[in-house]
Amino acid sequence: AQHRSLRLSVIGTGYLGATHAACMAELGFEVLGLDVDPAKIDALSRGELPFHEPGLSELLVKHVDSGRLRFTTSYQEVGDWADVHFIGVGTPQKAGESAADMRYVDAAVTSLAEHITRDALIVGKSTVPVGTATRLAGLIQDIRAGSGRPGSVELAWNPEFLREGFAVKDTLHPDRLVVGVRSDHAEQVLRQVYAAPLAEATPWISTDFETAELVKVAANAFLATKISFINAFSEITETVGGDITTLADAIGHDPRIGRRFLNAGVGFGGGCLPKDIRALQARVSELGLDRTMAFLNDIDDINLRRRDRVVDLAVQVLAAVRTGRTDSTGPAEVRSHGGTAPTPTPTAVHTLVGTRIAILGVAFKPDSDDVRDSPALDVANRLFTAGADVAVYDPQGNRNAAGRFPRLDYVDSLQEAVTGADLAILLTEWDEFKQMDPAQLAPLMKHPAIIDGRNVLTAQDWIDAGFTHAALGHRFDP
Ligand code: UGA
Repeated sequence: AQHRSLRLSVIGTGYLGATHAACMAELGFEVLGLDVDPAKIDALSRGELPFHEPGLSELLVKHVDSGRLRFTTSYQEVGDWADVHFIGVGTPQKAGESAADMRYVDAAVTSLAEHITRDALIVGKSTVPVGTATRLAGLIQDIRAGSGRPGSVELAWNPEFLREGFAVKDTLHPDRLVVGVRSDHAEQVLRQVYAAPLAEATPWISTDFETAELVKVAANAFLATKISFINAFSEITETVGGDITTLADAIGHDPRIGRRFLNAGVGFGGGCLPKDIRALQARVSELGLDRTMAFLNDIDDINLRRRDRVVDLAVQVLAAVRTGRTDSTGPAEVRSHGGTAPTPTPTAVHTLVGTRIAILGVAFKPDSDDVRDSPALDVANRLFTAGADVAVYDPQGNRNAAGRFPRLDYVDSLQEAVTGADLAILLTEWDEFKQMDPAQLAPLMKHPAIIDGRNVLTAQDWIDAGFTHAALGHRFDP
């Protein structure tokens, strides 16, 4: 890419910030990434990415080597140097509450406002409660009025829509660019930053702060609603019969509905959708609109009920395959595994104790090593807590999962996971799992039984290979 004259800083080098920094360097800018964590900065400066994201590591190495991408822990350095500062710090869910924790965004903006010594534009990218940008603009004004430092500092809001697993592509070739601005100058600066995607005719939406903030949460709330909508229909087809995938295909042909994000399964997780729908509801209630987003409670509940369903289905499948085993009677034995999952019923414990279950996938989605709010990891932990031996295999997610639930048995291959297992449960639809050969796996297992938690396997292939097969969104008829 050609050299571009604006100097950019990116505050926060987590998932969003590191991606944005490397992609802006790829677009030709000089970029300085800042994080308060010196360990992160050291690693990134050596070209080491602390998480898995296809294509990002290569960009990081390329631009650390070219010198276009540097990292620092010093606000003074970025404040003296950059023309545009992107805020990409996290807004996690507050412990024990639904609302978003704004302390990192507030700290970043405060530090920038205190240190900037030249004309600069601060651009918020983090997902925030509506009203935040207006509040931060006031904060910046107050700090600058008292600081006596040279330069005028303006704020803009530019929400991020990148998906994990496609972060590089989504940043370099976004579906749309949304900017909340209060001056033509701010808009012109952002048009310069995004000249490359704009040259590809990417839709450009220039609006006010509130709309820009709301576009982001509206998009994520809509996506979560689509997923829970089809998963609610799964509850019906599981009861009455029917095929959830055919249903999704059929309604998806209507372009007003669309097929994407109608994949029924164990539901949504990750660092965004779950916390964003909770934060939106909390914010809207704060505004006195208690009923307005109440439906998101149901969206959340439907999503969490999918995990209960997998555990119930595991009990049913194991009860079915257990026929003929000698240990099927006798008192329920509860092993003391500890943990925080809901107490399973005595029948469930009775069925699960002494079984080995292979969990295929713990990342919240494929092509990611992220296990934040992962439905798969939650199910694995619940089965373990209920007494099962749980073998976990994920192509990328094992390490992060082991950090959270160290007592599960993490193994290095699919074959190892299913060997000796009474049941395998596919919970993250990695290609490796979609391509599994049932005939090869069957002899490795104690009982060939599988639950398809993402509706990606062809049932008949597994039944033909001798498997007991069950899937979310389908009635289980042992
Ligand atoms: C989501 C949004 O898709 C991005 O546009 C947004 O920028 C990002 O949040 C964010 O706010 O930062 P991401 O969390 O990376 O991106 O993941 P998604 O691809 O949206 O998947 C979320 C969850 O929904 C996953 O657990 C996935 O397995 C699940 N899902 C997705 C389904 O269960 N069914 C589907 O049909 C689609």
